[in-house]
This record gives sequence, structure tokens and C-alpha cells, in this order.
Amino acid sequence: MRAFEFHNGTRLIFGQGKLSSLKSEVPKYGTNVLLVYGGGSIKRSGLYDQVITLLKEIGAVVTELSGVEPNPRLSTVHKGVALCREHQVDLVLAVGGGSVLDCAKAIAVGAKYEGDMWDFVERKAIPQDALPLGTVLTMAATGSEMNGNSVITNEATQEKMGWASPWAYPAFSILDPVHTYTLPKDQTVYGVVDIMSHVLEHYFHQDTNTPVQDGFCETLLRTVIDTAPKLIDDLENYELRETILYCGTMALNGMVSMGLAGDWATHNIEHAVSAVYDIPHGGGLAIIFPNWMKYNLKADPARFKSLAVNVFGIDAAGKSDEQVGLEGIEALRSFWSSIGAPSRLADYDIDDSQIEVMAEKTVRFGPFGNFRKLQREDVIEIYKMSL
Ligand code: NZQ
Ligand code: ZN
Repeated sequence: MRAFEFHNGTRLIFGQGKLSSLKSEVPKYGTNVLLVYGGGSIKRSGLYDQVITLLKEIGAVVTELSGVEPNPRLSTVHKGVALCREHQVDLVLAVGGGSVLDCAKAIAVGAKYEGDMWDFVERKAIPQDALPLGTVLTMAATGSEMNGNSVITNEATQEKMGWASPWAYPAFSILDPVHTYTLPKDQTVYGVVDIMSHVLEHYFHQDTNTPVQDGFCETLLRTVIDTAPKLIDDLENYELRETILYCGTMALNGMVSMGLAGDWATHNIEHAVSAVYDIPHGGGLAIIFPNWMKYNLKADPARFKSLAVNVFGIDAAGKSDEQVGLEGIEALRSFWSSIGAPSRLADYDIDDSQIEVMAEKTVRFGPFGNFRKLQREDVIEIYKMSL
């Protein structure tokens, strides 16, 4: 393991009926609340009314920012920052999926910064302060509810980039599996792919002596593989939603990755696709991850063999590590296809015309990937394999 420090300051409030914790959590931070939400799913599900009722009961003054886009945009962050200043907001409260949470994180740091929040994304400045942030999650996917990451799209420059800061951890996050019941099948599948991809990003590392971390990852993957097919046939099953929601948080809250540096190249490669084509993150990952794996199989066949044997139960007898590894990659591809995830860029009508543009975006901060460093030319190959 490499040396590490771990701190996660998010109070995770998990389980049925836990929304009422808003009444004890919100007053800790003040009365002026900016309620941030997306395109209307929380109004259709009734969650919006429940949140407003609870906030009224504690006398909160609520300002609203609605319409946060999937792949949240910088212009929306700017609107939120302006509202925070105008209404002297004490707490930003995000109710929605990862996009809403990520947008709220950017608003929370932006409200305490004189310049443009995009400076943080471009690494021109480092956040030094933030408004407190609370979240009510409605979709299992990103882990944003318990991490310090956020991904924002600058629509003017067609850039989609992640940033991270200790200031971006939610102070509290409320996760009730019932709030995810209304998530449609396709978004449920995207969430499943995203969760598995986060685990895979951790799993492909080059650090040594990590048996506990690797075992955690394998358990998470096996659990999601066992649960997801049942869930997509039974979207309002409490226990299945509960399992996936918990896996989503555990996959990217730092618990399974202490002491190692995961790869994260595939996320960078996907973000460039959704920057240009505005596709769902999980859909892009389903297309690219198996191709990143095939492209890098030779870098460490034993690692791919572990995945194949311990997660997909591939029989390794009499086969080379590379052969077993390839069978594992094919098992992952088949699993994602079986639950309805896309497998080719063509599924989103994406052709080869923007490959160079996208590849250029991925190397903006230089060669990347901790399992194997990738250059622009490598990325072009992976995009071509994904057409
Ligand atoms: O906007 P509304 O109307 O709320 O609808 C959303 C949206 O259309 C809908 N939805 C969410 N919960 C629902 C629901 N519909 C019905 N019932 C519910 N309970 O689902 C759609 C997608 O929502 P979105 O928030 O975009 O999905 P997700 O949670 O997958 O977030 C994706 C964003 O997070 C970034 C991605 O790049 C992308 O921008 N990521 C953030 C990470 C992080 N902060 O740590 C890590 C990830 O790797 C990822 O990059
Ligand atoms: Zn992701």
C-alpha cells in the first residue's frame, strides 16, 4: 500500500423515512436555504412537496434553482452563485441525482469565491471556503453524496471536467431507497454501469499488498452483478434498491481505495465524449470501459485474470492469464448488454468525425491513467475500438 490519510466528513443518513432528518440537520446551518434540483422528477415523484413541507415546519426561507441539466452546466452554476449572494444563503440543499449534487457543490464553493468557479476546474485556483451543502439523493450512481468530487460542463468551450476539494464534501446526505423507486429502467442501468466502473477504476491499480481493498472491490462487483438484473425487472423492490444505493456510495466514498491509486483513465475518456455529444455518463462508460480493458490487457494480464476468476467465475484451468483475462472482459461486456446498456458509440449515432477533438481534450493535463499511462494516440485507438 502507499501511505495515505483518510477523512470523510459527510454524515450519511441512510434508510426508509430518513427524509425527516432534514428537520434536525438544516437548522444546524441557518435558515436561508437554496434548494437545487433538476428537470422535474422530484415534482412528479412527490419528493419536492415533502421537502418543502419539512423546510416550512422549521421556518426555513427557501430560494429555488431548478432545471439543473444531466451533465450540469457552468451557466447553471453561475445562476446558483448569484442566488446565494442575492439571498444570503446559509445552506445549499441539493435534491436529485449526481448532476444536481455536482452542480450544488460548484455553487457552494463558487458562492465563497470572488472569481469564476471555473478557475477551480481549470486548476487556476484552489477552493478555500464553501457554503455548507446538504443532499437528498434520488439516484444510485456517482457517489457524489459522500465524496468531494464534482463534474461540470462548460457549454461555451465544450469541456466537461471533474474537480475535487475537501470543501466539496456534503455536510450531510440523506439516502432513502424509496426515493430511487421512480428512476426509470434506462437510468437505473446507467447508474449500475457507473457504480461498477468506479469499482473497476479502483481495481486497476499498480500498488502492491492490497488484498483487503481488492476483495472489497470484488464483493461490490459480485453484489451489483447479482442484484441489477433482478432490480431492472422489479424497480420498486426496496431491498434491491437499498443494495444498489449502498453499493453506489461505497464505490466512490474512498472506503475501498485507501492506500492505492486507481486508474481513472476511462472516466477521462468518457467525459470527453459527453462533453461533445451530451450523452449519459453511464452509457458512455458501458461503451468505453471494455475497450480500455482490451487495449490494456497486456499491461498486467494477472490483474485481468483475477477479475475474471473472482468476479465472473471464469474457469482458468489450462489457459494463459491473457486468455482468462479476455474471457473476463467479454463477460463484463455481455453482462452490461444483458441489462440493456449500449455497447458502441454508434448506439448514440456517434461516428469518427470528432475523435481527434475528443482525444485532445483528454490530454489537456498531460498523459493520464495510473494503471497504464495513456497518450493521445492511445485514446484515439480506444475510441476507434468503440465505434
Ligand atoms: O433532472 P431530473 O428531472 O431530476 O431527472 C434526472 C435526470 O434526467 C433523472 N432522475 C434522477 N433521479 C430520479 C430521476 N428520474 C426519476 N426518478 C428519480 N428518482 O435521471 C436523469 C439523470 O440524472 P443525473 O443526475 O444526470 O445522473 P447521475 O446521478 O448519473 O449523474 C451524472 C453526472 O455525474 C457525473 C457525471 O459525469 C454526470 O455529469 N459524475 C460525478 C461523479 C462525482 N461527483 O463523484 C463521479 C462520476 O464518475 C460522474 O462522472
Ligand atoms: Zn462515473
